[in-house]
Amino acid sequence: MSVYSTILTQSEFVDKDSLSYPFEERGLQFGDGVYEVIRIYKGEYYLLKEHVDRLYRSAEAIKIKIPYHKEKMTDLLHQLMEKNNMKNDGKVYMQITRGSAPRDHAFPYEVTPNIYAYLQDLPRNEKILENGVKTISQRDVRWENCYIKSLNLLPNVLAKQTAKENNCYEAILHRDGVVTECSSSNIYLVKDGKVYTHPATNNILHGCVRMAVERFLKAENIPLIEEAFQIEDIQHADEMFLSSSTSEVLPVIQLDNVVVGNGEPGKITRTLQRAYEQDAKITDKLIKNV
Ligand code: PDD
Repeated sequence: MSVYSTILTQSEFVDKDSLSYPFEERGLQFGDGVYEVIRIYKGEYYLLKEHVDRLYRSAEAIKIKIPYHKEKMTDLLHQLMEKNNMKNDGKVYMQITRGSAPRDHAFPYEVTPNIYAYLQDLPRNEKILENGVKTISQRDVRWENCYIKSLNLLPNVLAKQTAKENNCYEAILHRDGVVTECSSSNIYLVKDGKVYTHPATNNILHGCVRMAVERFLKAENIPLIEEAFQIEDIQHADEMFLSSSTSEVLPVIQLDNVVVGNGEPGKITRTLQRAYEQDAKITDKLIKNV
């Protein structure tokens, strides 16, 4: 097992297993913080700028002042990769909490954020990228600021667990039947050559891969309609897919008891998977049957 380093607030690199925090830490006690997950292919970050920009947006939204500029954060992330001699496919997980302070809901202004990041291997999941996944619907019971990538993930955790217990890969979330996103990915429906997805409002996380998908669709002249669809629309969908940094562009072939389209990954989904592989400069391509 690799021992990866950690970025501390002081720009230090340490053995990740040596890191500890006082129990009065606001991330631990209140989920008072934000995070990012960035995909890595062969030791290169994918969509790094988009992720760093979102990290700063999330932190600002909850009044955490990150003690570095974006350039320094980016440089530290590159150093982390080098220090670990990372050459594999993987991901970086990073989080910024408000810091350590005596427990009180209201926060002290002078507290210093706790920051760390570490790398993990993450091979591409060839089988599901080829065959697609099954999903389950769940009520979206989250708060109204889902555009913030906050550490408060309990509704997402419970929705994903329900999916897992039902042999599904993801939970598709809906508010009164209106589909928002999944527990840890964005969701799309294809009908008559057009792609539908929830608009980038406060009710969803503005996915970095979602932004890339928007770009791919534009390049392919495939219309993207940023209009929310309903759970019941899925019965008439031609295709569905989801997107995230860890899942890429992933075909969805079933929701609850409803088979999507003909039950196989669709043409537009395949086009986007190919575009993703090109954009991420993936050399050992898996999407062969296109
Ligand atoms: N999740 N929606 C939610 C609720 C998410 O948690 C994520 C990412 C996405 C997709 O965002 P992106 O394309 O930037 O990865 C959408 C990450 C992977 C996670 O929590 O592990």
